[in-house]
Amino acid sequence: MKDLTPNKADLDAIEIASIDEIRALQLKRLQWSLRHAYDNVPMYKERFDAAGVHPDDLQQLSDLSKFPFTYKNDLRDNYPFGLFAVPREEIIRLHASSGTTGKPTVVGYTATDISNWADLVARSLRAAGLRKGNMVHNAYGYGLFTGGLGAHYGIERLGATVVPMSGGQTEKQVGLITDFQPDGIMVTPSYMLNILEQYHKIGLDPRDSSLQVGVFGAEPWTDAMRREVEAAFDMHAVDIYGLSEIMGPGVASECVETKDGPVIWEDHFLPEIIDPVTGEVLPDGEMGELVFTTLTKEGLPMVRYRTRDLTRLLPGTARTMRRMEKITGRSDDMIILRGVNVFPSQIEEQLMATGGLAPHYQIELYKAGRMDAMRVFVEATSEAADELSKTAAARMLTKRIKDMVGVSTEVIVGDPGTVERSQGKAKRVIDKRDA
Ligand code: DLL
Repeated sequence: MKDLTPNKADLDAIEIASIDEIRALQLKRLQWSLRHAYDNVPMYKERFDAAGVHPDDLQQLSDLSKFPFTYKNDLRDNYPFGLFAVPREEIIRLHASSGTTGKPTVVGYTATDISNWADLVARSLRAAGLRKGNMVHNAYGYGLFTGGLGAHYGIERLGATVVPMSGGQTEKQVGLITDFQPDGIMVTPSYMLNILEQYHKIGLDPRDSSLQVGVFGAEPWTDAMRREVEAAFDMHAVDIYGLSEIMGPGVASECVETKDGPVIWEDHFLPEIIDPVTGEVLPDGEMGELVFTTLTKEGLPMVRYRTRDLTRLLPGTARTMRRMEKITGRSDDMIILRGVNVFPSQIEEQLMATGGLAPHYQIELYKAGRMDAMRVFVEATSEAADELSKTAAARMLTKRIKDMVGVSTEVIVGDPGTVERSQGKAKRVIDKRDA
């Protein structure tokens, strides 16, 4: 793998400014953002008034803890445009996510918001080792999903050539990568595995591809998966994080020279970690729920938005701004099995450490009598697809999950290709407990 560390001179000055400078900018912007929300969004005015707080009460960053939280349901309750802080005519782009139940959540951007977003995705790509003049294959889905267009504008803003491929059509993905010779790829990590599979299917060595860096996000993925993809393609794999409600991809992104968790672009977003049960703010380094307040968003300011993502805040390394630990899971994805908390990523870790198994998996929850039970569907690699190897792999993974995660599961090892493939975000858990 090539050293892709960016030149310091190419970074935005604020990325390597002093902590004091960054905190001063945050305070000024936070005061603006709270006032903007209070003055222009009825929900925020009602909530702040009910909690007895006013934007003027924010004298230092830690005063933010006095302000009320905002939840995904607030977007649904104010569907579609009720939380916008500018007249609809000033919104130049909408995105929406379907979610599993009820109304979609709709987000809107002013022209300035779109421009800031493009800047931050360009900054994220630079951190990933890409630069002006490169070519980037964009396989995040285009449309209402925030991934495709979010990445697209950032690639253009960097001054790179964008290939707006979107998700799906795996054969064509590999054909275009082979013909166009892009330097980078942006795609969900689970879909990257389908692309890898296609290389093997047509007998091409992925290590011969032009790709030097993959910028993967939109779903949790482990360091074990990082090592697998890096070895398979002989390229760097870095993590990009974001969510529609706060902006989209590029809220935080990893530096290629350290690969030690996404750097939060703190000049635009203020992170907090809270105890998800009590709502109490936790010190940096402690594990809890990630909460964001936007500092510059005009169209849809968010005050203390509860992401449900679980992580820790870590000190800056390659940049001054704080990092977040690679996300292991969302509180919504947490499986509680006979009292033990389990995240799909923990199963992924054990799977990746077991020989003879492909990196595809799905978890099924069901009722065994009155107890919850879990089944893990995986598949054999083509070299280990005989019955003897499959039985041995199933036994090994069952034992690893029991020893390392602490739960008993049934592991079903199918033939190659039997686990459902994702075209974007993978569906890891199928809950049949109510069936
Ligand atoms: O998935 C934004 C995005 C697109 C990020 C493309 C990166 C690349 P949503 O569809 O609103 O937005 O889903 C947001 O996805 O709260 C996390 O639970 C999860 N997520 C996003 N990035 C990561 C990541 C986009 N790098 C939700 N690691 C978030 C783990 C991630 N989870």
